[in-house]
Amino acid sequence: MSPSLTVRRITAHQGAVLRELRTASLREAPYAFGETLEEALSADVASFDETADRHANSSATASFILYTEGHPAGLVGAFIDEAPAPRAFVYALWVAPAVRHLRGGELLVNAATQWLAERRVHDVFAWVADENRNAMRFYERLGFGPTGERRRIPAHPEEYETLLVRRVADHVT
Ligand SMILES: CC(C)(COP(=O)(O)OP(=O)(O)OC[C@H]1O[C@@H](n2cnc3c(N)ncnc32)[C@H](O)[C@@H]1OP(=O)(O)O)[C@@H](O)C(=O)NCCC(=O)NCCS
Repeated sequence: MSPSLTVRRITAHQGAVLRELRTASLREAPYAFGETLEEALSADVASFDETADRHANSSATASFILYTEGHPAGLVGAFIDEAPAPRAFVYALWVAPAVRHLRGGELLVNAATQWLAERRVHDVFAWVADENRNAMRFYERLGFGPTGERRRIPAHPEEYETLLVRRVADHVT
């Protein structure tokens, strides 16, 4: 039987859970993220507490945690940037290998999208490394398409990433 999957916004006291998920994702899928495992491991533990607190309470940034049978098993971040014409992003998406292909990634992205929609966001953007074909297929399946914007990946300047977007109105209840 498939495990039951649920998603909830992070709470202010889940710094340790955030650190556990973030380091697990960087260990398992280093190709997918701008940050390195070494950077995350060397960061002050208190900085994860501060981030959890902010992501639990801010109206411009949030994290959502995937649970399988009550255990943390995935993560996504969402934020609205501070540009003159603000854009909303999902980032740092990761689902533990043991529970992949069960729509946990979809649940995470949809929870983040719902939260952004409540902030009057119309489009949600995601940067995806060109080499990360699985993530490209995942986002395409959810209705994301290319914006035409590409850039060198800041942490790996020899590689490129592509900016994808989907309209919020098509994906919220
Ligand atoms: C991308 C990721 C979040 C998907 O999580 P998930 O919970 O398995 O996603 P879902 O079950 O909601 O959707 C899976 C769908 O995405 C696509 N997909 C995901 N992985 C795939 C793969 N290895 N090969 C082909 N398609 C894949 C398929 O359409 C798949 O549908 P299927 O399960 O019916 O084949 C997960 O694979 C992951 O954490 N990867 C490593 C980190 C990463 O790349 N993050 C994205 C950074 S931009």
